[in-house]
Amino acid sequence: MKIFLTAIAILLACCACIPDFLASLTAHLALKTFGGTPSTWMDTLRLVYIAKLPACPCTLSQADKDQRFITSNSLIGYFHEGASNCFRAPSLLSHSLSGQQCCYGDDGRLRIGIEQNGGTADAYSPDGITNILKHIWYDVLPWVAFCDMGNATTCSTYYNYRPSDDCLEYYLL
Ligand SMILES: *[C@@H]1O[C@H](CO)[C@@H](O)[C@H](O)[C@H]1NC(C)=O
Repeated sequence: MKIFLTAIAILLACCACIPDFLASLTAHLALKTFGGTPSTWMDTLRLVYIAKLPACPCTLSQADKDQRFITSNSLIGYFHEGASNCFRAPSLLSHSLSGQQCCYGDDGRLRIGIEQNGGTADAYSPDGITNILKHIWYDVLPWVAFCDMGNATTCSTYYNYRPSDDCLEYYLL
């Protein structure tokens, strides 16, 4: 019951309709319920298949023009602090359940890695209700444990398993 309620709370938190601080609060509550240390979440982070994902556009204007990417700015102030725009390439493109995420700063440049709170590969792209729940479990809650409630070392472990794409392989269509 507790788990069910928490799942619902997190699902709500992932709607754009609530402020960042409430999402953070809900996430912390969830971690208190499920056990909040990085070691608890290590296998969830590690033992999932992530498909080869499309490379991120290097700039915001490229991303805007690229039909493969859709704007996805829900709660980026919490998950990708400093980014002003994020995009997703849905799972359809990777012919799997995984999806790419790319975030850009005010200067329109791609933000990558832990220092820039860059976008990350998702084991489960949040497309559709089943995948949203899996996304929360396999991508979001580990991020909360490793990054939000962890430290620089644990967060870099998260980015090792859910890396930012650096756009080096990006080509304009
Ligand atoms: C970071 O957190 C991990 C796991 O909780 C801990 O083992 C490690 O000592 C911490 N590292 C630093 C630099 O605080």
